[in-house]
Amino acid sequence: MTILTGDCRDLMPAHGPFDLILADPPYGDTSLAWDRQVDGWLPLARASLKPSGSLWVFGSLRSFMTTGGAFSDAGLTYAQEIVWEKQNGSSFHADRFRRVHELAVQFRRADVPWSAVYNEVQTTPDATARTVRRKKRPPHTGRIDAGHYVSEDGGPRLMRSVIFLRNAHGRAIHPTEKPVFLLEILIRTSCPPGGLVGDWFAGSGAAGEACRLTGRRYLGCEIDAAMAERARARIASVLPFTEGTPT
Ligand SMILES: C[S@@+](CC[C@H](N)C(=O)[O-])C[C@H]1O[C@@H](n2cnc3c(N)ncnc32)[C@H](O)[C@@H]1O
Repeated sequence: MTILTGDCRDLMPAHGPFDLILADPPYGDTSLAWDRQVDGWLPLARASLKPSGSLWVFGSLRSFMTTGGAFSDAGLTYAQEIVWEKQNGSSFHADRFRRVHELAVQFRRADVPWSAVYNEVQTTPDATARTVRRKKRPPHTGRIDAGHYVSEDGGPRLMRSVIFLRNAHGRAIHPTEKPVFLLEILIRTSCPPGGLVGDWFAGSGAAGEACRLTGRRYLGCEIDAAMAERARARIASVLPFTEGTPT
């Protein structure tokens, strides 16, 4: 449960294999000092994944279109994505829509079928009661009576792929800090309880806080020594997961 100071390409491969790698890399889109594109980390991340593991990468459609080929070149294949909707966003260019969303895209090893990848389906407790005729039992939820799917008021419903969460503006210690609860969702989905999460571009250490709250082991890496120090202090201040808390 710590953050290494240095370049993730040099430091992280030796600490795998990881159940889940989280990556929020710089794309070189801004003039911020830390925002310089990092080459060559994808093959190293791919080689550091367990067969059942996966990689969630934050970015924009523009960044994925620019770097898209690098994922397949590294032996990774697309699994699924979510959209994080924020309450506000940067008006990057005055002649474009105000961006209030980011993507997080999950990739898995191309040599492993999806069925072998750890995936804990997430639900929200907000179903409204209904009965639906189905030919086949859905794998994720509901009581079943001879081809019927019956849900109850307030019962589980598949979590939506567009997730609205306020960003950390005002209390963030990093300019692109992700909300802890968003990271918790990705971690619960893609890392078994007690599994190891590698956070290759750790920034504020928000993912470390999320791991502490969900009972996963965490190793982050941050090249900026001062930020790494703040992130370590932040994680140390979080009360750890205790037995009995839902994982
Ligand atoms: C987009 S930010 C990550 C923010 C983070 N997700 C959070 O919630 O705070 C990217 C971070 O990667 C760091 N970084 C850049 N190159 C790196 C490298 N080669 N190895 C490790 N960290 C690096 C930057 O200093 C920056 O803090």
